[in-house]
Amino acid sequence: MSDSSAIPAANPLADYLARRPEIDQAIQRVLSGGRYILGPEVIAFEQEFASFLGARFAIGVGSGTEALHVALRACGIGPGDAVITVSHTAVATVAAIELAGAIPLLVDVAPLSYTLDPNRLEAAIQANPSLRIKALIPVHLYGHPADMPTIMSVAERFNLKVIEDCVQSHGASIDGRKTGTWGHLAAFSFYPTKNLGALGDGGAVVTNDPELAERATLFREYGWRERYISEVPGANSRLDELQATILRVKLQFLDEDNAKRQEVARQYDSMLSVRQLVLPHCSPSFTHVYHQYVIRSPRRDELKQFLGAHSVGTLIHYPVPIHQQPAYRDRVLTQSGLAATERICQEILSLPMHPHLTSDQVRRVGDLILSWLKENHRPR
Ligand SMILES: Cc1ncc(COP(=O)(O)O)c(C=O)c1O
Repeated sequence: MSDSSAIPAANPLADYLARRPEIDQAIQRVLSGGRYILGPEVIAFEQEFASFLGARFAIGVGSGTEALHVALRACGIGPGDAVITVSHTAVATVAAIELAGAIPLLVDVAPLSYTLDPNRLEAAIQANPSLRIKALIPVHLYGHPADMPTIMSVAERFNLKVIEDCVQSHGASIDGRKTGTWGHLAAFSFYPTKNLGALGDGGAVVTNDPELAERATLFREYGWRERYISEVPGANSRLDELQATILRVKLQFLDEDNAKRQEVARQYDSMLSVRQLVLPHCSPSFTHVYHQYVIRSPRRDELKQFLGAHSVGTLIHYPVPIHQQPAYRDRVLTQSGLAATERICQEILSLPMHPHLTSDQVRRVGDLILSWLKENHRPR
């Protein structure tokens, strides 16, 4: 039996579609047009997305993982090279480095922003002179930008390419400049639950550099400029017309949807600023787009269970850091001491967050958490 008062953790897509009849019309246009892969909808979406970001080029690809992989290949990164990123991220960030044949070197995150700590970055580069470190991937986790001004200045000093992982940060910015326009390249995902999500897999590589854009474009389709003639080795990572046409409609509402996420975050902030919880941090002059609203509690597992028992869906992004996962613990390199990463994973909890949460739903989640705290954090 379904519970009508249940509050799911992520965006219910069926609701979204019901509110946007334009999506149905766009799908019909593709079905009657007869082009299904890399056609006019993809070209139009690439232009519109680049213009939304304030970037010169966007290249549609098959997923966020593929966008990272294609970006790494466009930089010429391959076997024997090392790439720095964080351990507190989706496994896809590290999987993409390995897809390119490179070695991941994982560093700690800053304890407040949960994004790559620029101080650790510099230490990691200096501590590993024998590694051929070619690039770094800062992840704008949960929708909060990594400290790009500082990261870019470290990268410049050590001559490293920077690929931003923007999979969770569509529309986020620093000083009004959007994530995806700070590094040499950026990778976006359009997985359905992202702030800009398709109805299937999709991704984009973004850059201002025409040479990198050309290399990424060649790589995504077998190195073809002319059909069936491979100029360079490549792969198949293409965005399809149905996803592109859906994304074109949803892009028009991205600012509005992000503003709603920010409103939900403000309501949570005002209800939950109590000493027993750590709430999401937003650095001054940074714009957070709240892909997730992540709180911290030392008794996270009990709180999660309590909310679940009251039909409130929560998630943990991510319960095990990459350097401790069975598939990676013996393979990835780490810069010693990922203390912030290891502590965060024990305490984080993602509350329900999407643009269609009502203020009554947010109040219900907030009230439940406050009642749980009252019961469970009584002074002894
Ligand atoms: C930070 C981050 N990077 C990369 C990816 C990979 O994106 P995709 O699922 O589209 O391959 C994800 C997916 O959730 C992610 O959260």
